[in-house]
Amino acid sequence: MADFEAIRAFEHAGWERAAHAYEGSFATATRQFIPALLDAAYIGAGRSVLDVACGPGFVAAGAAERGATVRGLDFSAAMLGVARARHPGLMFDQGDAEALPYPNETFDAVVSNFGIHHVPQPILALRQAHRVLRPGGALAFTIWAAPAENTAWKLVFDAIRRCGDMSASHAPAPGGGFGDPTDCAAALEQAGFTGIGTRKLTGLWCHADGRALLGALGSGTARMAALIGAQAQEAIPAIVADMDRAAAGYRDADGLAIPIAGFVAYGRKS
Ligand SMILES: C[S@@+](CC[C@H](N)C(=O)[O-])C[C@H]1O[C@@H](n2cnc3c(N)ncnc32)[C@H](O)[C@@H]1O
Repeated sequence: MADFEAIRAFEHAGWERAAHAYEGSFATATRQFIPALLDAAYIGAGRSVLDVACGPGFVAAGAAERGATVRGLDFSAAMLGVARARHPGLMFDQGDAEALPYPNETFDAVVSNFGIHHVPQPILALRQAHRVLRPGGALAFTIWAAPAENTAWKLVFDAIRRCGDMSASHAPAPGGGFGDPTDCAAALEQAGFTGIGTRKLTGLWCHADGRALLGALGSGTARMAALIGAQAQEAIPAIVADMDRAAAGYRDADGLAIPIAGFVAYGRKS
């Protein structure tokens, strides 16, 4: 049985540490998927929206730009500090996705961009989202595709497998089982949603070279950062060289344009 509190503590410490580097690193990947996420939850003028695991609030800001009334929620005080400084006109609350601090039937839509799979028990977060939605309300969330179809991740994992140590990180295994769209659809059904669907999303993540990609994941994430940070310093040049070799096909005059892929999963409360 997974130790859910150990997962929560690991994730919390990781995101607290990543908060200030996040915008210039990992957010350059996650922000690419915001328009599709907002579309999947029908975000528009007059809708009341909750952005769960909001981080620095880019999704909340995107919803507000569409004329929605929005609140962001995150469990990281450091992330919320960045969100409040960056979006002074928006409301942000500290709380856990598994125990949302809002009454039943508060929102027309709940969205989460690459947040739900970090929660120790994602199904609890989906049930909470269902609880705070009004009847007819919409939920949408994004997850990353598996490394086989998500090249940036594959480059790092393959290089560490070949030149580093995949077992070096002592991070607790994630709680979720939210690895693919089938898992997401099943969990949405279990949480009570109807009108369930998933859609693949793709993007390009641009970096000067393998070292820059490794740096972005090492400074702007929690779990991947733990794996990268646990590699022996002497192994890093070989890991970077392996990534540069494997990424040669994605290089142009400006550097690397690396394919990334995720899924948006969505459903409605009847
Ligand atoms: C990859 S970041 C995504 C941030 C933001 N949604 C975005 O699109 O850039 C994951 C976020 O999930 C938050 N998070 C992880 N577990 C959480 C939990 N149990 N409750 C609330 N927030 C959580 C982290 O603090 C972090 O801000």
